[in-house]
Amino acid sequence: MKIFLDTADIAEIRRATEAGLIDGVTTNPSLMAKLGAEREPAELFLEICEAVDGPVSAEVVVLDAEGMIEQGRRLAKIHDNIVIKVPLTEAGLRACRTLTNDDIRVNVTLCFSPTQAHLAAKAGATYISPFIGRIDDVAGDGMELISQIRQIYDNYDIETEILAASIRHPQHMVQALLLGADCGTLPPKVLYQLLEHPLTDRGLEGFMADWKSLGREL
Ligand code: G3P
Repeated sequence: MKIFLDTADIAEIRRATEAGLIDGVTTNPSLMAKLGAEREPAELFLEICEAVDGPVSAEVVVLDAEGMIEQGRRLAKIHDNIVIKVPLTEAGLRACRTLTNDDIRVNVTLCFSPTQAHLAAKAGATYISPFIGRIDDVAGDGMELISQIRQIYDNYDIETEILAASIRHPQHMVQALLLGADCGTLPPKVLYQLLEHPLTDRGLEGFMADWKSLGREL
Protein backbone atom coordinates (compact mmCIF):
# COMPACT_ATOMS: atom_id res chain seq x y z
CA MET A 1 0.00 0.00 0.00
CA LYS A 2 1.29 3.46 -0.82
CA ILE A 3 1.62 5.75 2.19
CA PHE A 4 1.02 9.46 1.74
CA LEU A 5 1.71 12.06 4.41
CA ASP A 6 -1.33 14.26 5.07
CA THR A 7 0.40 17.55 5.77
CA ALA A 8 1.85 20.68 4.20
CA ASP A 9 4.60 20.85 6.83
CA ILE A 10 7.84 20.64 4.84
CA ALA A 11 9.96 19.61 7.85
CA GLU A 12 7.67 16.62 8.49
CA ILE A 13 7.70 15.73 4.79
CA ARG A 14 11.52 15.76 4.72
CA ARG A 15 11.72 13.74 7.93
CA ALA A 16 9.48 11.00 6.51
CA THR A 17 11.10 11.06 3.06
CA GLU A 18 14.60 10.71 4.45
CA ALA A 19 13.52 7.53 6.25
CA GLY A 20 11.94 6.23 3.04
CA LEU A 21 8.53 5.98 4.68
CA ILE A 22 6.28 7.84 2.24
CA ASP A 23 5.27 7.60 -1.40
CA GLY A 24 3.65 11.02 -1.69
CA VAL A 25 1.85 13.86 0.07
CA THR A 26 -1.73 15.05 0.34
CA THR A 27 -2.71 18.57 1.34
CA ASN A 28 -6.02 20.34 1.74
CA PRO A 29 -7.03 23.96 2.41
CA SER A 30 -7.24 23.33 6.17
CA LEU A 31 -3.71 21.90 6.28
CA MET A 32 -2.45 24.88 4.23
CA ALA A 33 -4.21 27.31 6.60
CA LYS A 34 -2.41 25.73 9.58
CA LEU A 35 0.89 27.07 8.22
CA GLY A 36 -0.35 30.68 8.21
CA ALA A 37 -0.31 33.22 5.38
CA GLU A 38 3.45 33.81 5.14
CA ARG A 39 4.01 31.12 2.52
CA GLU A 40 2.96 31.68 -1.09
CA PRO A 41 0.92 28.51 -1.93
CA ALA A 42 2.51 27.83 -5.34
CA GLU A 43 6.01 28.13 -3.84
CA LEU A 44 5.12 25.77 -1.03
CA PHE A 45 3.68 23.18 -3.45
CA LEU A 46 6.90 23.37 -5.49
CA GLU A 47 9.02 22.87 -2.38
CA ILE A 48 6.91 19.85 -1.38
CA CYS A 49 7.17 18.38 -4.89
CA GLU A 50 10.94 18.73 -4.81
CA ALA A 51 11.09 17.04 -1.39
CA VAL A 52 9.11 13.92 -2.28
CA ASP A 53 9.40 11.61 -5.27
CA GLY A 54 5.70 10.91 -5.76
CA PRO A 55 2.24 12.42 -6.11
CA VAL A 56 1.45 15.64 -4.24
CA SER A 57 -2.24 16.48 -3.98
CA ALA A 58 -3.06 20.20 -4.26
CA GLU A 59 -6.70 21.17 -3.82
CA VAL A 60 -8.75 23.66 -5.80
CA VAL A 61 -10.56 26.32 -3.76
CA VAL A 62 -13.54 27.37 -5.87
CA LEU A 63 -16.94 25.74 -6.29
CA ASP A 64 -17.64 26.06 -10.02
CA ALA A 65 -16.30 23.64 -12.64
CA GLU A 66 -14.71 26.30 -14.87
CA GLY A 67 -12.89 27.80 -11.91
CA MET A 68 -11.69 24.36 -10.77
CA ILE A 69 -10.42 23.57 -14.26
CA GLU A 70 -8.57 26.90 -14.44
CA GLN A 71 -7.01 26.45 -10.98
CA GLY A 72 -6.25 22.79 -11.67
CA ARG A 73 -4.44 23.54 -14.93
CA ARG A 74 -2.44 26.29 -13.22
CA LEU A 75 -1.51 24.08 -10.24
CA ALA A 76 -0.53 21.20 -12.55
CA LYS A 77 2.06 23.43 -14.22
CA ILE A 78 3.97 23.80 -10.94
CA HIS A 79 5.51 20.30 -11.12
CA ASP A 80 4.90 16.87 -12.66
CA ASN A 81 4.20 15.45 -9.18
CA ILE A 82 1.10 17.60 -8.70
CA VAL A 83 -2.27 15.80 -8.52
CA ILE A 84 -5.34 18.03 -8.52
CA LYS A 85 -7.79 17.50 -5.67
CA VAL A 86 -11.42 18.34 -6.45
CA PRO A 87 -14.49 17.89 -4.24
CA LEU A 88 -17.08 15.19 -4.89
CA THR A 89 -19.73 17.50 -6.35
CA GLU A 90 -21.20 17.64 -9.84
CA ALA A 91 -18.89 20.56 -10.61
CA GLY A 92 -15.95 18.62 -9.16
CA LEU A 93 -16.67 15.62 -11.37
CA ARG A 94 -17.01 17.83 -14.46
CA ALA A 95 -13.63 19.33 -13.63
CA CYS A 96 -12.25 15.83 -13.01
CA ARG A 97 -13.29 14.67 -16.48
CA THR A 98 -11.79 17.72 -18.21
CA LEU A 99 -8.52 17.63 -16.25
CA THR A 100 -8.21 13.86 -16.80
CA ASN A 101 -8.71 14.41 -20.54
CA ASP A 102 -5.81 16.89 -20.31
CA ASP A 103 -3.67 14.05 -18.80
CA ILE A 104 -3.71 15.72 -15.39
CA ARG A 105 -4.17 13.29 -12.48
CA VAL A 106 -7.14 14.00 -10.20
CA ASN A 107 -7.83 13.02 -6.60
CA VAL A 108 -11.58 13.28 -5.87
CA THR A 109 -11.96 14.17 -2.21
CA LEU A 110 -14.73 14.30 0.41
CA CYS A 111 -16.15 10.90 -0.57
CA PHE A 112 -18.67 9.46 1.87
CA SER A 113 -20.61 6.85 -0.13
CA PRO A 114 -19.99 3.95 -2.54
CA THR A 115 -22.11 5.53 -5.27
CA GLN A 116 -20.04 8.72 -5.06
CA ALA A 117 -16.91 6.59 -5.46
CA HIS A 118 -18.39 4.86 -8.51
CA LEU A 119 -19.24 8.17 -10.19
CA ALA A 120 -15.79 9.59 -9.45
CA ALA A 121 -14.30 6.61 -11.26
CA LYS A 122 -16.65 7.21 -14.22
CA ALA A 123 -15.35 10.79 -14.33
CA GLY A 124 -11.80 9.45 -14.66
CA ALA A 125 -10.45 10.00 -11.15
CA THR A 126 -6.93 8.67 -10.56
CA TYR A 127 -7.64 8.54 -6.81
CA ILE A 128 -10.81 8.48 -4.72
CA SER A 129 -10.50 9.71 -1.14
CA PRO A 130 -13.08 8.24 1.27
CA PHE A 131 -12.85 10.00 4.65
CA ILE A 132 -12.86 7.14 7.16
CA GLY A 133 -12.45 9.10 10.39
CA ARG A 134 -15.16 11.63 9.58
CA ILE A 135 -17.66 8.79 8.96
CA ASP A 136 -16.72 7.25 12.31
CA ASP A 137 -17.20 10.73 13.87
CA VAL A 138 -20.92 10.59 13.04
CA ALA A 139 -21.34 7.01 14.31
CA GLY A 140 -20.95 5.48 10.84
CA ASP A 141 -18.47 2.81 9.78
CA GLY A 142 -15.68 4.27 7.67
CA MET A 143 -14.11 0.87 7.06
CA GLU A 144 -17.34 -0.53 5.65
CA LEU A 145 -17.13 2.19 2.98
CA ILE A 146 -13.57 1.13 2.07
CA SER A 147 -14.76 -2.47 1.81
CA GLN A 148 -17.72 -1.55 -0.42
CA ILE A 149 -15.61 0.59 -2.76
CA ARG A 150 -12.97 -2.16 -2.98
CA GLN A 151 -15.65 -4.67 -4.02
CA ILE A 152 -17.27 -2.33 -6.55
CA TYR A 153 -13.96 -1.38 -8.15
CA ASP A 154 -12.90 -5.05 -8.30
CA ASN A 155 -16.28 -6.12 -9.75
CA TYR A 156 -15.85 -3.81 -12.72
CA ASP A 157 -12.03 -3.74 -13.05
CA ILE A 158 -12.00 -0.04 -12.18
CA GLU A 159 -8.47 1.33 -12.02
CA THR A 160 -9.15 4.35 -9.81
CA GLU A 161 -7.02 3.94 -6.68
CA ILE A 162 -8.69 3.90 -3.28
CA LEU A 163 -6.89 6.46 -1.11
CA ALA A 164 -8.07 5.90 2.46
CA ALA A 165 -8.14 9.39 4.02
CA SER A 166 -8.98 10.85 7.41
CA ILE A 167 -6.99 8.04 9.06
CA ARG A 168 -6.86 8.92 12.74
CA HIS A 169 -5.10 5.97 14.45
CA PRO A 170 -3.10 2.79 13.71
CA GLN A 171 -6.15 0.50 13.76
CA HIS A 172 -7.60 2.47 10.82
CA MET A 173 -4.38 1.71 8.98
CA VAL A 174 -4.46 -2.00 9.85
CA GLN A 175 -8.03 -2.28 8.54
CA ALA A 176 -7.26 -0.29 5.38
CA LEU A 177 -4.30 -2.60 4.69
CA LEU A 178 -6.40 -5.72 5.25
CA LEU A 179 -9.20 -4.45 3.02
CA GLY A 180 -6.83 -3.71 0.15
CA ALA A 181 -6.97 0.08 -0.04
CA ASP A 182 -4.37 1.13 -2.63
CA CYS A 183 -3.10 4.09 -0.61
CA GLY A 184 -3.56 5.59 2.82
CA THR A 185 -2.90 9.18 3.82
CA LEU A 186 -2.11 9.88 7.42
CA PRO A 187 -0.93 12.73 9.60
CA PRO A 188 2.71 12.60 10.84
CA LYS A 189 1.60 11.67 14.37
CA VAL A 190 -0.17 8.53 13.13
CA LEU A 191 2.73 7.60 10.83
CA TYR A 192 5.12 7.39 13.78
CA GLN A 193 2.55 5.63 15.95
CA LEU A 194 2.63 2.83 13.36
CA LEU A 195 6.22 1.96 14.22
CA GLU A 196 5.95 2.14 18.01
CA HIS A 197 5.77 -0.99 20.16
CA PRO A 198 6.57 -1.26 23.89
CA LEU A 199 8.18 -4.68 23.40
CA THR A 200 10.60 -3.15 20.88
CA ASP A 201 11.56 -0.50 23.47
CA ARG A 202 11.89 -3.08 26.26
CA GLY A 203 13.91 -5.43 24.05
CA LEU A 204 16.27 -2.64 23.04
CA GLU A 205 16.80 -1.57 26.66
CA GLY A 206 17.77 -5.16 27.47
CA PHE A 207 20.20 -5.44 24.55
CA MET A 208 21.87 -2.14 25.44
CA ALA A 209 22.20 -3.03 29.14
CA ASP A 210 23.66 -6.47 28.37
CA TRP A 211 26.14 -5.01 25.89
CA LYS A 212 27.22 -2.39 28.42
CA SER A 213 27.80 -5.13 31.03
CA LEU A 214 30.24 -6.80 28.60
CA GLY A 215 32.52 -3.76 28.84
CA ARG A 216 33.80 -4.05 25.24
CA GLU A 217 33.85 -1.66 22.25
CA LEU A 218 32.37 -2.75 18.92
O1 G3P B 1 -6.75 14.99 3.67
C1 G3P B 1 -8.05 14.84 4.09
C2 G3P B 1 -8.28 14.04 5.33
O2 G3P B 1 -7.23 13.15 5.54
C3 G3P B 1 -8.67 14.86 6.49
O3 G3P B 1 -8.60 14.18 7.72
O4 G3P B 1 -8.71 14.08 10.18
O5 G3P B 1 -9.36 16.19 8.99
O6 G3P B 1 -10.83 14.20 8.88
P1 G3P B 1 -9.42 14.70 9.00
